[in-house]
Amino acid sequence: MSFSYDGYARPRRIILDERKLSSEYVPLKLPHRAEQIAETLRVMQDVIRGQKDVLRTIIYAGQAGTGKTAVARTIGREVKDKAAKGKIPPILVSYVNAQEYRTKFQVFRKIGSDCGLDIPRRGFSSQELAEYVFGFISRRENNALIILDEADILAKQKDGNELFYVFSRVREVLPEVQLGLGLIVIFRQLDESLAYLDKAVVSSLSGRVVRFNPYTSQQLQDILWARIRDEGAIREEAVSEEIIEMIADTVGYNPDTKSGIGDARMAIKVLYYSALRAEGEERETILPEDVRYVVNQGVLPSYIDEETVTRLPLHEKLLLLAITELLLLEREKAYVNMGEVVIQYEDVCNKFGEKPLRYTRIWEKVQFLKKMGLVDTRTGRGETRGRTTMITFPGLPANSVVGINRIPLDLLEKILRDSIEKELSSRGEERGEELTE
Ligand SMILES: Nc1ncnc2c1ncn2[C@@H]1O[C@H](COP(=O)(O)OP(=O)(O)OP(=O)(O)O)[C@@H](O)[C@H]1O
Ligand SMILES: [Mg+2]
Repeated sequence: MSFSYDGYARPRRIILDERKLSSEYVPLKLPHRAEQIAETLRVMQDVIRGQKDVLRTIIYAGQAGTGKTAVARTIGREVKDKAAKGKIPPILVSYVNAQEYRTKFQVFRKIGSDCGLDIPRRGFSSQELAEYVFGFISRRENNALIILDEADILAKQKDGNELFYVFSRVREVLPEVQLGLGLIVIFRQLDESLAYLDKAVVSSLSGRVVRFNPYTSQQLQDILWARIRDEGAIREEAVSEEIIEMIADTVGYNPDTKSGIGDARMAIKVLYYSALRAEGEERETILPEDVRYVVNQGVLPSYIDEETVTRLPLHEKLLLLAITELLLLEREKAYVNMGEVVIQYEDVCNKFGEKPLRYTRIWEKVQFLKKMGLVDTRTGRGETRGRTTMITFPGLPANSVVGINRIPLDLLEKILRDSIEKELSSRGEERGEELTE
């Protein structure tokens, strides 16, 4: 007897746990954020150990997708866990996202509800509410760790300023309250937000600032693999090294050129949508073309339009076509060797009856295409996998490979061919006119 899945949900081919790819999910491990976690625990240690009458503040600053929320929530989760197991004194952990709770009153109401208090929407002033909530926590002889996320919004309002003031002056404002308070305040634009806040608040807030830098390609690779291997969000066999490199290179921040967004949320999103596309086509594996489609759909801020391609000089187009043709030959490959590109380029030129440029100029043209965001290059890998021979040319960096990560190849090939043919034929006409004159 064999099982039939008729009438049942089919098992997914690639995605094993969708929830673990959502941006709210807080993963078990956070590669490359150990320093930020350690620093926070160090600043918060007195509060966590139950000391009263202390206020510890730490500020997180960094661009979108750099792990600020994930780190804060991980710390909140661990502290709660330890308290539940009796390893540390009881502590209240409250996570407040200012996108959702925009006023002083709403923020304190959320903290109150995290304490299990049911607070009416009316009848309290926000000051009374603060006293009530902090009074409640301190009578329970608890400390509190409060995470104030997306605080940029609060900083820009008068009400937000007052909120920070209450936090920073708990002991002066609420003398009868006896508690240790830890505050993690998260900003995306720290300098801009601090400029909005009152000087007195800033000086009492600005304890420690922990920076969250954009992730590099290598760091994003580790983050993506952790989601696959440690978390089991995606079937490991469905993803190749090249796919992960491709996504990480496209999204990763490059400190040398100061380009790339370095946003982990974006990288995970590209992986997720690529997996969905592959599943939609009933494949067992994600292919580079899935990534190109997803990236081209505008998940990244700068996506490439047709005009960027058609406006290229002729030999850049021929070169890009050569790279496209090579990548089309092997669907599972994301990168091709530069030596092969040179040979293919000469071939393409010959087919169009165009004299190829000397190969020594090719690398410079590849760099130009890279600057335009049309190709991506990698170096440092000993040999391209699956290849027995490496073709090298003097003047071309050994071990360098080139790929196209942001445009679907079938689309690109068509645009390039049409545009090259048009350009050559119009040039032919001009020549013809010259001759008849
Ligand atoms: N070091 C990491 N390891 C694993 N996953 C990470 C890491 N950093 C970020 N992520 C994941 O990337 C996504 C974005 O991270 P997070 O929400 O923490 O960013 P953020 O800095 O708070 O961004 P924003 O300013 O937009 O709120 C989340 O899904 C998170 O799980
Ligand atoms: Mg966040």
